[in-house]
Amino acid sequence: MYRALFVVAAVSLMSRAAEALDNGLALKPTMGWLHWERFMCNIDCDRDPNNCISERLYMQMADVMVKEGWKEAGYEYVCIDDCWPSHQRDAQGRLQADPKRFPGGIKKLADYVHSKGLKLGIYADVGKNTCAGYPGSLGYYEIDAQTFADWGVDLLKFDGCYMDWKLLGEGYINMSKALNKTERSILYSCEWPLYEWPFQQPNYTAIRETCNHWRNFDDVYDSWSSVKSILEWTASHQNIIAPSAGPGGWNDPDMLVIGNFGLSHDQQESQMALWAIMAAPLLMSNDLRDICPRSKKLLQNAYIIDISQDPLGKQGYRTAKVDSFEVWERPLSKNRLAVAVLNQQEIGGPRGYVIRAVPGWKICDPECNVTQILPQYKEMGIQTQKSTLVLSVNPSGTALFTITPTKSDFQRLHKLKWQDTSIKRTHVTL
Ligand SMILES: *[C@@H]1O[C@H](CO)[C@@H](O)[C@H](O)[C@H]1NC(C)=O
Ligand SMILES: *[C@@H]1O[C@H](CO)[C@@H](O)[C@H](O)[C@H]1NC(C)=O
Ligand SMILES: *[C@@H]1O[C@H](CO)[C@@H](O)[C@H](O)[C@H]1NC(C)=O
Ligand SMILES: *[C@@H]1O[C@H](CO)[C@@H](O)[C@H](O)[C@H]1NC(C)=O
Repeated sequence: MYRALFVVAAVSLMSRAAEALDNGLALKPTMGWLHWERFMCNIDCDRDPNNCISERLYMQMADVMVKEGWKEAGYEYVCIDDCWPSHQRDAQGRLQADPKRFPGGIKKLADYVHSKGLKLGIYADVGKNTCAGYPGSLGYYEIDAQTFADWGVDLLKFDGCYMDWKLLGEGYINMSKALNKTERSILYSCEWPLYEWPFQQPNYTAIRETCNHWRNFDDVYDSWSSVKSILEWTASHQNIIAPSAGPGGWNDPDMLVIGNFGLSHDQQESQMALWAIMAAPLLMSNDLRDICPRSKKLLQNAYIIDISQDPLGKQGYRTAKVDSFEVWERPLSKNRLAVAVLNQQEIGGPRGYVIRAVPGWKICDPECNVTQILPQYKEMGIQTQKSTLVLSVNPSGTALFTITPTKSDFQRLHKLKWQDTSIKRTHVTL
């Protein structure tokens, strides 16, 4: 048995698409909070002191993250996005925070966030300017990396505005090297592929060697159409992008907008379930000081977070599309499988999705244990390949469940290829 396990480990190492950026970070998808989608570039602290981009916002968010169970649930990074700096660099050419909105400066803010046991993220841009027109890092990569390290920053989101696309790769690689040279561990979040896709297919081997996660597609908005478009883009490019995900580097479909204004509760469940299936960073952009208890419970759901943070670190795939249902599957450690069934029919009521006599569902031979996590926790008990399972899924909602092999013949299971365990030949009866 030991020999069989060893062979599997060796094969899975060899089949990794590429080496990850070697900074010891993002071994699991990053969890935290990022200001952009909810707070954008609100710099009017005179009229809107509670919601403007200022040190107060991040300090309050850090306080709430500790007090309200977010940190305990795994959310760790408090991240600043665009619009934090002054329009002028200082006399030494260093970026500086806007003095009115960040009177204590970033170093003091980092100390505060660290005192809460959390980490601080900051934002800059690979080009001449940030997307909102603040100073970019082009020509200043080493100075900026050193400034962030001196301040005690733990994560850098590096945007791609105002950059010649032919120099994108070079710029992102140069900044990656500059961060490494500081000798501080700084998680590196890139947007290299997002800005390269309009011109050519990005090199995901190089991206994985350079970044800890990378945005591929448009910014998320607080709407179901936005979340849907991200899912559709991801599924239609999954054969290119999913193999590059793994411990140390992840595809980033952008922020969780759960707890805001635009998604129904079913749609919020769909975003949470599918972000876990996609092994996506879980960076919330919402107002944790004022969030509906149901959204909070969903974001802190330990079963879903366990899927997101599974140590195998494989990204899931969309495996079937039938009758406006989509089936997504993510292989988990210990031969388990997470399955999400999304009902894309936006009319009518709950619809039944029936899984029966699945020839490809080999992890249920001879038996498996099925646990539904969404829409509510339900132990569905021991099943076999001959079982019929009926799921009820609301319009634009998702049923999420895990399948655990029981009484397994370990050696046989380890010989199975991941594709063999797929339930893509599922039959649907309405
Ligand atoms: C810098 O890169 C080297 C070699 O890839 C790696 O061993 C080291 O841990 C990196 N240091 C930091 C701070 O990321
Ligand atoms: C990246 O670094 C190389 C070597 O220092 C330099 O020649 C090149 O101009 C840099 N590119 C960018 C975009 O900064
Ligand atoms: C992609 O990047 C890798 C690693 O930097 C490199 O070895 C490879 O040649 C590149 N592939 C293409 C098609 O440019
Ligand atoms: C099936 O899984 C549930 C949830 O993890 C667990 O409580 C139950 O004991 C399991 N049943 C068997 C027979 O393993």
